[in-house]
Amino acid sequence: MTPSSSPSVKDTDAALIQAAMTAMASAYAPYSGFSVGAAIRDEKGQIHIGVNVENAAYPQGSCAEAGAIAAMIMAGSRQITAIAVAGKGDLLCTPCGGCRQRIREFAKPETPIWIADENGFREGFTLDTLLPHSFGPDHLETP
Ligand code: THU
Repeated sequence: MTPSSSPSVKDTDAALIQAAMTAMASAYAPYSGFSVGAAIRDEKGQIHIGVNVENAAYPQGSCAEAGAIAAMIMAGSRQITAIAVAGKGDLLCTPCGGCRQRIREFAKPETPIWIADENGFREGFTLDTLLPHSFGPDHLETP
């Protein structure tokens, strides 16, 4: 990643990253054993968290990002200004393809996506870097 596409960590994001790390401990992941926590900062500066919730009928499980987005919508907010995702392991716990599109619905191309593990911040991306040339609500606006 080039420096220009790598957002810098600001103080305000430390709380967001910590929220995702803390949420991770509340995940329900008995089948994969892979707990994920997500935290969204909205346009009002409020933080909304979510975790992955698995299901014995595997496809019915949901991702942490989806939970955090649902919490944001229920709170009346509509804009993701930053999102943090936390998961353990050597590999970065970047959002899955489906969640990149879910984030896209409520975020701008330059919106930062912070990735953390159980020990703290690992790397930052912009949405546009993880989901280039994306399809979004603007495509459906009537001319
Ligand atoms: N998972 C997430 O919660 N978010 C992602 O972006 C990637 C995957 C969850 C889904 C499943 O419960 C577990 O991680 C293993 O795939």
